[in-house]
Amino acid sequence: MKDLTASEKVEDIEIRLLLEAVYVRYHYDFRNYSMASIKRRLRQARPQLGFSTFSAMQESVLHEPSMLPRLLRYLTVQVSEMFRDPSYFQAIRERVVPHLRTYPSLKVWIAGCSGGEELYSFVILFREEGLEDRTIFYATDINQEALKTAEAGIYALDRLQLFTENHRKSGGRSSLSDYYQAAYGRASFDKTLRRNVVFSDHSLVTDAVFGEMNFISCRNVLIYFDRVLQDHALGLFAESLSRKGFLGIGAKESLRFSQHAEAFEEFAREEKIYQRRVG
Ligand SMILES: C[S@@+](CC[C@H](N)C(=O)[O-])C[C@H]1O[C@@H](n2cnc3c(N)ncnc32)[C@H](O)[C@@H]1O
Repeated sequence: MKDLTASEKVEDIEIRLLLEAVYVRYHYDFRNYSMASIKRRLRQARPQLGFSTFSAMQESVLHEPSMLPRLLRYLTVQVSEMFRDPSYFQAIRERVVPHLRTYPSLKVWIAGCSGGEELYSFVILFREEGLEDRTIFYATDINQEALKTAEAGIYALDRLQLFTENHRKSGGRSSLSDYYQAAYGRASFDKTLRRNVVFSDHSLVTDAVFGEMNFISCRNVLIYFDRVLQDHALGLFAESLSRKGFLGIGAKESLRFSQHAEAFEEFAREEKIYQRRVG
């Protein structure tokens, strides 16, 4: 690794102090996120938010709470799509659903749900498979703006072509257009899709376990954490799952190096779906 220049060393110190300030003042803990990507995003944020140094940014965020949501837009990545990686949802439909059908009631946790795209994919799939009425869905994120978007269920119409194609490839049994109304360039998803959903501000870093989940889907979130934090989140999932409950993670994520790897067995290898071991 190349030696850091003096100004890079100072930048490193300033960034660590900024993250410490955000944690101590607001309890949002980014201190163990993957440093390379945090740095990249903060370097983008600094000029766009009008600061010449990270120290100035720290001073502002400490004194002006309104700066926090603006900073969170950079610190959290909100890229998502419905039925993202259609083969993941196809594996749930074809391989996981037959197991879930044997339970009289179900709890599903979408951790790091962003603007709700992944949540609606689950609810629609569960409706199509006749499981929606016996399921409670928990949709959680640390970004409150994202949670509001998820609760509203309104997306730009130009995103629907991709969502529709993904839904079809995932083995969707109906047309995605059955679930939304299009008007003025926006698609509003049917409010009945939210009747069994609990939205909640929850951090995988600082908050407690959720009990007795049958399925936890946490995709494209662990990738932003360092190894220590990934382990912490996986421990949280192991504790939150019911016996033989399922865990789905993102295509680029892995349990391989985690100290909790033993708590799970591979269920659908390619699609990164695991099952909690008994005992
Ligand atoms: C790239 S999005 C992934 C969205 C969706 N899961 C998907 O795969 O399309 C990452 C999400 O993780 C959320 N996030 C980041 N840190 C988190 C934490 N500590 N606890 C819960 N959610 C977190 C972000 O706010 C963002 O909404």
